[in-house]
Amino acid sequence: MKIGILGVGHLGGALAEGYANADMTSDVILSPRGRERSTLLRSTHGFEVAEDNVALVRACDVVIVSTRPDAVISSIQMLPWREGQVLISAADGITAGSLRSAVAPAEVVRSMPVLASALNQSAVPIYPENQMAIKALAPLGYVTSIKSEDAFSSVSALGAWFGWLFALAGSTADDLIEAGVDQQTARKVKADMMRAAGAMIADRPDRDPHDTLKNLATPGGITEVGLKTLKDANALEPWGAAMDAAMKKLQTLGRS
Ligand SMILES: NC(=O)c1ccc[n+]([C@@H]2O[C@H](COP(=O)([O-])OP(=O)(O)OC[C@H]3O[C@@H](n4cnc5c(N)ncnc54)[C@H](OP(=O)(O)O)[C@@H]3O)[C@@H](O)[C@H]2O)c1
Repeated sequence: MKIGILGVGHLGGALAEGYANADMTSDVILSPRGRERSTLLRSTHGFEVAEDNVALVRACDVVIVSTRPDAVISSIQMLPWREGQVLISAADGITAGSLRSAVAPAEVVRSMPVLASALNQSAVPIYPENQMAIKALAPLGYVTSIKSEDAFSSVSALGAWFGWLFALAGSTADDLIEAGVDQQTARKVKADMMRAAGAMIADRPDRDPHDTLKNLATPGGITEVGLKTLKDANALEPWGAAMDAAMKKLQTLGRS
């Protein structure tokens, strides 16, 4: 199966890195736009770079479009799409309906991989379920088919939540540095602790993290005292507000 990446920017580059790690360089063709990054990926990993988007679509069974939302439709329409082909959109907000009208008779799948694709560790929600899309995206991390487009749209806000975790990680490392821990140690131990929480949560996705937290918080201990401080400051509520803002923004992107 040949996979095309149309739009080799931050996300498209991360997808390509993920395919290179998975020894799939010869299965992937890059679009020429984003020339600097495509050229670098060709010289570093040996990816083929298509002459233009028409050649890319002709050569591929699955094409992942990772241009910016406002450029998605113009970058995929008027290309030689054919029956049996699958377009996977990684763009925030663009609905399956508008993608379908641009690439018929190809099938359409929406997805939300993040930059952790470069490490083959991305969450990859998709809608609707599609076996070719699952095969193409599985090397980048953990694919989950979402049952409805409305639910997919809400889940997509997690792509932004992934980014906010960097803000939390950064400010926690800063707190340690301010307390006198050297920068390298502060960043490493905080990263290891984040990985530890991620590993436990991912190991039991069926389990409510609130229940796990009850076991973590020894009565009278440091988890309990910190949690009380967070709750007294209503510190978790703005995270909900941020999710609401991201979900609303996704709807606006879909309409523009
Ligand atoms: N960045 C993330 O972490 C992330 C996460 C999840 C989803 N997304 C989604 O991924 C998409 C890309 O985001 P990004 O941050 O990677 O943006 P970006 O860095 O600006 O990359 C977009 C790339 O698309 C290229 N492009 C524009 N028009 C094109 C065309 N007609 N044909 C081929 N390539 C074209 C641009 O090339 P030029 O440089 O030549 O203009 C650029 O290299 C967005 O829709 C975003 O919603 C991003």
